[in-house]
Amino acid sequence: MNTVLKIAALSGLVFCQTTLLGAPLYKKPKLPVETRVEDLLSRMTLHEKVMQLNQYVHGTNMNLHNIGKIDDHYPLEAGSYIYYSQDPKMRNDLQKRVLKETRLGIPAVFAHDVTHGFRTIYPMPLAQAASGNPELVEKVCAMAASESRLSGTDWTFSPMLDVARDPRWGRITETFGEDPYMNSIFGVATVKGYQGNDLSSPEHMAACLKHFVGYGATQGGRDYRQTDISDNDLWNVHLVPFKACVDAGAATLMSAFNDINGVPSTANRHTLTEILRDRWNFNGVTISDWASVSQLKDYQSTASTYAEAAVQSLLAGVDIDMCSGCYSSTLDSLVNAGVIPIKRIDDAVRSVLRLKFRLGLFERPYTPEISRDKRLMTPWNLSIAEKMAEESMVLLKNDQNVLPLSHKKIAVIGPAATDKRAMYGEWFSHGDIDDATSLLDGIMQEFKGVAEVMYAKGCDFDGEERSGFAEAIKTAAEADVVILCMGERGNWSCENNSRAEIAIPGIQRELIKEFKNSGKPLVLALTSGRPVNLSDIEPVVDAIIEVWQPGIRGGNALGGILSGRVNPSGKLPVTFPRTPAQIPLYYGIRRGARFSPHGDYKDIPSTPLYEFGHGLSYSTFEYGEITADKTQFKQNDELTLSVEVRNTSDRDGAEIIHWYISDPVSSTVRPIKELKHFEKKYIKSGDRQVFTFKINPLRDLSILDKNGNVIIEPGDFIVSVKDKTIRLSLE
Ligand code: NOJ
Repeated sequence: MNTVLKIAALSGLVFCQTTLLGAPLYKKPKLPVETRVEDLLSRMTLHEKVMQLNQYVHGTNMNLHNIGKIDDHYPLEAGSYIYYSQDPKMRNDLQKRVLKETRLGIPAVFAHDVTHGFRTIYPMPLAQAASGNPELVEKVCAMAASESRLSGTDWTFSPMLDVARDPRWGRITETFGEDPYMNSIFGVATVKGYQGNDLSSPEHMAACLKHFVGYGATQGGRDYRQTDISDNDLWNVHLVPFKACVDAGAATLMSAFNDINGVPSTANRHTLTEILRDRWNFNGVTISDWASVSQLKDYQSTASTYAEAAVQSLLAGVDIDMCSGCYSSTLDSLVNAGVIPIKRIDDAVRSVLRLKFRLGLFERPYTPEISRDKRLMTPWNLSIAEKMAEESMVLLKNDQNVLPLSHKKIAVIGPAATDKRAMYGEWFSHGDIDDATSLLDGIMQEFKGVAEVMYAKGCDFDGEERSGFAEAIKTAAEADVVILCMGERGNWSCENNSRAEIAIPGIQRELIKEFKNSGKPLVLALTSGRPVNLSDIEPVVDAIIEVWQPGIRGGNALGGILSGRVNPSGKLPVTFPRTPAQIPLYYGIRRGARFSPHGDYKDIPSTPLYEFGHGLSYSTFEYGEITADKTQFKQNDELTLSVEVRNTSDRDGAEIIHWYISDPVSSTVRPIKELKHFEKKYIKSGDRQVFTFKINPLRDLSILDKNGNVIIEPGDFIVSVKDKTIRLSLE
């Protein structure tokens, strides 16, 4: 058949398929997504394609940190909107116009930052990681997805997978801490919770992996700064959680603000295309961070015009421009001028359409308008939020077993006791702080009829005002125990909220010191979105509970831990330095050239105040020796290691076991130890549990070289759990 006939035959076939047989292919839900994508793409004009690659704001912009005016002038052809409402009606009204008033009626997708809950607010991700319980995190994220999707949000910008090793960085609270493996496990749990098995289900939403990549290494912990990342750290630290979550099927990914070694993440073809698309076969959507395309011109200055910025970003691999307007204003003419190949536009549009088909938006573009009480803050959801808060709090210190309390008169002192904002942290989506149980309310509910609870604020979070000290001292004098609810305000961490000294402000520390010689047991309930400098406070108090930013039921969880109804089980996902002068300080540092693992200072200790993995319980646990089904193995073998843990106390409790590996001799210098597995189990008083670690040598004992290739070296490996070790040998 000659070419003309072939074309005629093919177009005849398309005509039959699309017209004679009924609806166009893309409208047929039973056809494979890729067939529908190609069919729809073939019908779109260049301008329609370009508009799919733009995101606008719909509603009142509640995001303090996003630069730009409140924008309610959105074109109906836009591919997606950031949706600032918890009412599905506003979304449905806009969607109706999109379907009716645009030529092809391609449904819009609605996104929002749901990072630790939509209306029911859970602990911040850093706190969630302390729980050691990815199954619970998955449940929490499934609940968040249900509230979101039923309220009109199809897509969240979460999880945040930036490995964060500098507690000064405000955004550390949005991460799962300092360890790449821990970020991977909780990242995957989050993705699974949001997305479920079927993105089109009415109670699941698309996840977005952010920020790709290396943002956690921002210089000096200051936000939006440069990062200088070696290939070794890029592959073995920063990319690790992203790879795990791409493999878990995350639907979308966001580029980061930082530059790596001079290349802005928004314009980094190596990470966004060569690694993400070509090596990892990611076929989801990539989106810029807020206005980060225009920032290539306005701040980072790798582009002299917005058109140049759009070229750099799109060709690097960013499909959607979040809110900067660079793509919508320049891409049509850039394609017409031959600067951007249409193939790149088509590939980006394919990703966006694929997301919409996967979300089922062509079949169900509208959100059912069900009443608020059926979709928000259901009793089951609140109970999950409380459980998450209980499991995420970390008992850092408990001298003389002052906790749990058996005292009859409890003084609660401090600004965090009644401050519900401190419960929520930032990015609390549609949460209403009035819904939260404050720490004081939680303590009062817990001890009702059991002990007398008295309260005095004493001072504010910061400032100079000491007029409340006298009442606080008097209240404490009447009590048998003093609970100091102190720490950071809710908005002292997250985006653009870095802190240099990371201390509790002076006024609170002064008040704490007033109780030093009171003879009363002092318990610090610490609210914070990061490790805090406790250097002069830790010696003064008898017990410390890291409460974090615990969410809507934080007060109930604290009450339960103080009374002993809840046995604390959280463990730190991040190192607490003694002072910020020690930063960087994290457990996974590479071996030094001489004896001292952290490198010594003459004037301060070089060890942390609290190590990664630290966390006490009211139970006591005894570890047996590690056993292995074999200790000599080949790289394709699988090994099973076990350790038995006994609860030697009279209290039931949960223990989280961290399994580390280290490579005593390697061709490049490796970290002293690397977390490769963790597990949490409940162990009844007097009972025992066996914890296991199935080692896949290629996965667990290898490292990646500067090109991301797996290297595994024969020889010995040491596996450790607490102070127990076993030596294994790879032939
Ligand atoms: C900027 C933040 O960096 C990002 O995490 C967030 O998702 C976007 N703004 C959208 O609000």
